[in-house]
Amino acid sequence: MDPNRKVALVTGAGRRVGRALALALGDAGCRVAVHYDTSGKDAQETADLINSLKPGSEAAVFKADLEHPTEVESLANSVLERFGPVQILVNNASIFDRTGLADVTTESWDRHFAINVRAPFLLAKAMNSQLTEGANGKIVNLNDWRTARPTRFAYGVSKTALSGLTRSLAVTMAPGVQVNEIALGAVLPPEDIPLDRPREEIKTNLGPADRMGTLNEVASAMLMLIQNDFITGETINVDGGRHLV
Ligand SMILES: NC(=O)c1ccc[n+]([C@@H]2O[C@H](COP(=O)([O-])OP(=O)(O)OC[C@H]3O[C@@H](n4cnc5c(N)ncnc54)[C@H](OP(=O)(O)O)[C@@H]3O)[C@@H](O)[C@H]2O)c1
Repeated sequence: MDPNRKVALVTGAGRRVGRALALALGDAGCRVAVHYDTSGKDAQETADLINSLKPGSEAAVFKADLEHPTEVESLANSVLERFGPVQILVNNASIFDRTGLADVTTESWDRHFAINVRAPFLLAKAMNSQLTEGANGKIVNLNDWRTARPTRFAYGVSKTALSGLTRSLAVTMAPGVQVNEIALGAVLPPEDIPLDRPREEIKTNLGPADRMGTLNEVASAMLMLIQNDFITGETINVDGGRHLV
C-alpha cells in the first residue's frame, strides 16, 4: 500500500510512541486521525505538527476513553464522518500495570483487557464494516517483547491476547486487510518511574543491542508493514533482540 492520502487512525497519538507514529504517517502523506483520552493539548499539538508538515498533510483530533465500548464506537463513527473509512489502523494506546499474580486485582485485569484488547478488536470490527469489498487496509498493533515471557499479569496476558487477536484478524480480514504487530523493547521508559534509577535498571537488561530503541526505528517498522502487502499475521520484534535472552 502506498500510504499517501490514506486515512489513518492512531490511538493514543498525543504523546510518546503514538505521536511519533502519527507524525510518520503524516509525513508519508496520510490524513491522520489523532486519537487521545487525557492528553488533549498534546494531541492538538501532534495534529498541528502534521498539518504544518507539507502541503496536503492533514490531521484532526478525536477524544475517546477506550475503556468504554460506546466511546470506541463513537470514535470510529466520528473518524468516518470526518475523513471517510479508516484504511490504516494503528492500535497504540495501552495501559501498563506492573503487578504480579499476588497483587493483580480484577478491576485492573478488566481494564487492561478493555483498553489493550477489546478496543483494538472493536476498532478493527468497525474498520471491517466501513471498508468496501476489495479495498485494501492495514492494521498495526503495538505489542511488547514481554509477551515472550509474560510476568506482569494483567498487562502481559492482555498483550498476549492482542497477539491472538492480530492473527485472528489477519485470517478473517484477508485478503483485503493485512494485520501485523510490532513487539517493542524499551524505547521510552514508563513515565511513572523516576528517571535516574530506572534508566540504570533498564540499561542492565537491554538485550543484545545493549541500547534503547529510537522512535524512528519504531516508525520505520510500522511503515514497512503498511507498505508491504504480503506480510500478515506477523510479529516484528523491534527490541534489539531483547526477546532472545
Ligand atoms: N514505551 C516503550 O518503551 C514500550 C515498550 C514496549 C511496548 N510498548 C508499547 O507501545 C505502545 C506505546 O507505548 P507508550 O509507552 O508510548 O504508551 P503509553 O505512554 O503508556 O500510553 C500511550 C497512550 O495510551 C493512551 N491510553 C491509556 N489509557 C487509555 C484509555 N482508557 N483510553 C484511551 N487512550 C488511553 C494514553 O492517551 P492519553 O495520554 O491521551 O490519555 C497514552 O498517551 C503501547 O502499546 C505499549 O504497550 C512501549
